[in-house]
Amino acid sequence: MTGKKTEFLYLSEPDVIEAGVLDVKRCVEVAEETFALLSEGDYLMGGPNHNSHGMGIIFPKETKFPNMPVAGPDRRFFAMPAYLGGRFDVCGVKWYGSNHANQAKGLPRSVLTVQLNDKDTGEPLSLMSANLLSAARTGAVPGVAARYLARKGAAVASAIGCGPINESCLKSIHSQLPGLKKLYCFDVFDEKARAFADWAGKELGVEGVAAKSLEECVRAGEVITVAASRLKPLLLDSGWIRKGTTVLMSGPAKADDAFWTKSRIVYDHVPLHETYVEEAIASGDKAGYYAGVIGGPIYTLIDAGKIQPLAQSTSLGDIVRGKAPKRESDDENIVFVACGMPVFDVSLAFDLWQSAARKGIGTKLLLWNEPHMLK
Ligand SMILES: NC(=O)c1ccc[n+]([C@@H]2O[C@H](COP(=O)([O-])OP(=O)(O)OC[C@H]3O[C@@H](n4cnc5c(N)ncnc54)[C@H](O)[C@@H]3O)[C@@H](O)[C@H]2O)c1
Repeated sequence: MTGKKTEFLYLSEPDVIEAGVLDVKRCVEVAEETFALLSEGDYLMGGPNHNSHGMGIIFPKETKFPNMPVAGPDRRFFAMPAYLGGRFDVCGVKWYGSNHANQAKGLPRSVLTVQLNDKDTGEPLSLMSANLLSAARTGAVPGVAARYLARKGAAVASAIGCGPINESCLKSIHSQLPGLKKLYCFDVFDEKARAFADWAGKELGVEGVAAKSLEECVRAGEVITVAASRLKPLLLDSGWIRKGTTVLMSGPAKADDAFWTKSRIVYDHVPLHETYVEEAIASGDKAGYYAGVIGGPIYTLIDAGKIQPLAQSTSLGDIVRGKAPKRESDDENIVFVACGMPVFDVSLAFDLWQSAARKGIGTKLLLWNEPHMLK
């Protein structure tokens, strides 16, 4: 038997743009579909229980090897594999390196690619630039949450952390809440908050306000999107939160206990958080592990018996499928926690790959004309 030729489609960043990665509404639709599949259970992620966020290379504080990287702000490598069912029915992996120091070199903090593979043969189907894809899928998640959890008439949003991820979150949230009129912006760097406020005016047509303090920003928001890096610890105060607020957490924050205990907490996917807790126990340094993940402050309160256990909690996918209630009253305070899952990278990558193939975008690359079989 002659061997089979294998080619795959390479999509550069301009190709991914042409294929539709900046179509915010489409990205939110794909994320919503993904939430439903998560809730149905038609997916597999890494790790023994199929629910791991991914596996990282975390650099040591010091090393005797001159070329080995050492720990630094936001410095890590991560591989995030998944299979996703439904119409996607494909395997894929997001692979990225992150380093705060990149920005001084004219690069984004993290540099990402996604590869899709045939679920049976493992042949690559597509390799694509994934900086915009990853930002779009990360933003689309709070977009879906805003649709189901935010008050319909919400007019004022707040953005804490004015980087690319919150830009993407805001675009998605705005696409679901057309009544938004004003955006308060806060960042440790005032100029970033001002630039973000300007951007919101031009791009979203809302009045952008650079908040003078974190407190002013939090007090103003009916919908608050949190996507700050770990450059400086972020400390939220429950006393600043108004009744009926929806806090959409895509990045880490600490808060007083009441911030969490007086709100309904909705998770992106409960089994993912159960896996984080299992991984924390296995690490032998539970508190240290909790400190490095977005849900850490919540798991600490669950362990102390102050919040209901994860097993009794709600995943957004269950709400999307009508198996759990969406927002029940205008007074309800809701915190939505999203830690990022590779199934969202795979679904959006698949959608973009299909769109590129339909439109003739991208470059076909040869893996082999026929595989060179070793004896
Ligand atoms: N949930 C997910 O799926 C997901 C995916 C990607 C990134 N993230 C997280 O989103 C966050 C933002 O990512 P990014 O790529 O935009 O990062 P970035 O570093 O480019 O921008 C983040 C911004 O946060 C600001 N910041 C840092 N500490 C702050 C504080 N205490 N108060 C206010 N602002 C503060 C920084 O000055 C910066 O402007 C990161 O924490 C990242 O890990 C989450």
